[in-house]
Amino acid sequence: MRKIVLRLSLVLLGVLMASPIAAAQISSHAENLEAEPWWKHAVFYEIYPRSFADSNGDGIGDLKGIASKLDYLKDLGVDAIWITPCFPSPQVDFGYDVSDYENIDPMYGTLADFDVLASEAKKRGIHIILDFVVNHSSDQHPWFLDSKSSRTAAHRDWYIWRDGKKPGEAPNNWVSNFGGSAWKFDAATNQYYYHYFYAEQPDLNWRNPAVKDAMFDVTRWWYKRGVAGFRLDAVDALFEDPNLKDNPILRPGTNAFGDPIEDRKYNTNLPEVHDVLRGLRKVADENDAVLIGETWTANVAELNKYYGEGNNELQLPMDFLFTMVNKLSATEFRKQIGAVDAASGWPTFVISNHDIVRSYDRYGDGEHNDQIAKLMAALYLTLRGTPIMYYGEEIGMKTTTPARKEDVKDPIGRTGWPEEKGRDGERTPMQWDGSENAGFSSGTPWLPVPPTYKTHNVADEGRDPDSVLEFYKKVLKLRHTNAALLQGKYTALNEGDAKVLSYLRLYREHGVVVALNMSSTPQRVKLELRSKGFASARQLLASGDASVKGEEVSLEPFGVFIGELTK
Ligand code: NOJ
Repeated sequence: MRKIVLRLSLVLLGVLMASPIAAAQISSHAENLEAEPWWKHAVFYEIYPRSFADSNGDGIGDLKGIASKLDYLKDLGVDAIWITPCFPSPQVDFGYDVSDYENIDPMYGTLADFDVLASEAKKRGIHIILDFVVNHSSDQHPWFLDSKSSRTAAHRDWYIWRDGKKPGEAPNNWVSNFGGSAWKFDAATNQYYYHYFYAEQPDLNWRNPAVKDAMFDVTRWWYKRGVAGFRLDAVDALFEDPNLKDNPILRPGTNAFGDPIEDRKYNTNLPEVHDVLRGLRKVADENDAVLIGETWTANVAELNKYYGEGNNELQLPMDFLFTMVNKLSATEFRKQIGAVDAASGWPTFVISNHDIVRSYDRYGDGEHNDQIAKLMAALYLTLRGTPIMYYGEEIGMKTTTPARKEDVKDPIGRTGWPEEKGRDGERTPMQWDGSENAGFSSGTPWLPVPPTYKTHNVADEGRDPDSVLEFYKKVLKLRHTNAALLQGKYTALNEGDAKVLSYLRLYREHGVVVALNMSSTPQRVKLELRSKGFASARQLLASGDASVKGEEVSLEPFGVFIGELTK
């Protein structure tokens, strides 16, 4: 499941805002933006609530903590926050095992706290997106407790129960994504239930219309409370082959959990998922809401299916193929950007999240990590599409995986050790300042604060114009104010260049060029501007000393140049 990582010359935003061209750009884009859905030009920010900000000193972040940081988020340039599950849960999978879809876990606060957070966010123009765990509930959810109570229980068919192949043998060979058989035997009713993830996360039976109705109502319930949309968890796992055919084995050997390596063709990506997505989208449309998908796909053709015909399914299926470009390679990124840019819907870019190694170390070379973090920011925040940031990425937080198995909190890290060490490393507390516990909590944080909080934290970086944080702010500001970056089409430049990734964003008469040096050596590149009708570019933002003369741009190692095109 783990798919996977300059100095600043200066942003000319003051100049940009003062120039008549820029003013014209902004008013013309404003007119056009009105006609576009809000989520298209919003910057989303993922919050892992356990780790963001702890208001009551219990070592675990909470909703009041999030509310206390809204000004920070606003100032950063965030328009929507996606909060990973904060509903009541036994926390086996840290909230992805929901025992009540219409409440808040006491460890995070109350519904009243949620309402305060929602209204404070609204005042600042920040939308709230919740995480909808559609594939499974907790085994402690009243639906499952009833389902398990007898073969004739009202909720029996809300989950997937089957007889074993023969006594003591699971219904088929499907293995759980989190290790072991995907079937758990229940002695009381002498049947097995299916769980794609942990046994404590039984899969809901989406073939039962009652499940569908109940789950659709959950979304309506939150929309009424002011939620602006959902990130849909594990959508590819929603349906299974009703005949329970065995999955083919892909190759000999075993995965990190010691299980056979299966082609999950009979329990993932079944076409029925699209009926559900169309239905959820209808409800979302009635509420001007957005649906984001956790859509791991093998290629863009598969990703395309999640947009639906005529874009009637997910507005924002995440492009994880982008996160799978696991090395800083201009060629590979160019290929992936081009593919998703040609997709049937609006691209959604992610470089880190709570399940994958942070981009800071995925791409970092150990020597230029901060420059590389800025380069990555300049990349995914200037592309045509919606970016979803991950908390801490903006300050260069590093993955800090436990060194000893006994310190691991994420269960898959304990069962998969040492090959799979779990996801604790990318979920460590947000680093707010240089004080004890990085200002995250006055108690003992649930996961240790990485030592890097001394050099990478919000307070100190806010005072350093060269910091990763200040660079993020500048790119985000540019992105929000520049018509070409907001609406422009993407055009690749210098497609044969293996070291510098460069592209244009063109909107009406406005154009921006972005040049990113993905190598550790200085580069001087002649950009193909003339052939596109431009003579040169005026610098808007750079990382590292960058200069431009006519079509030629010079970049430091891992340097960035963003310029407004001139005729
Ligand atoms: C995907 C989530 O992102 C991950 O954190 C979780 O463990 C699984 N789905 C199961 O809900």
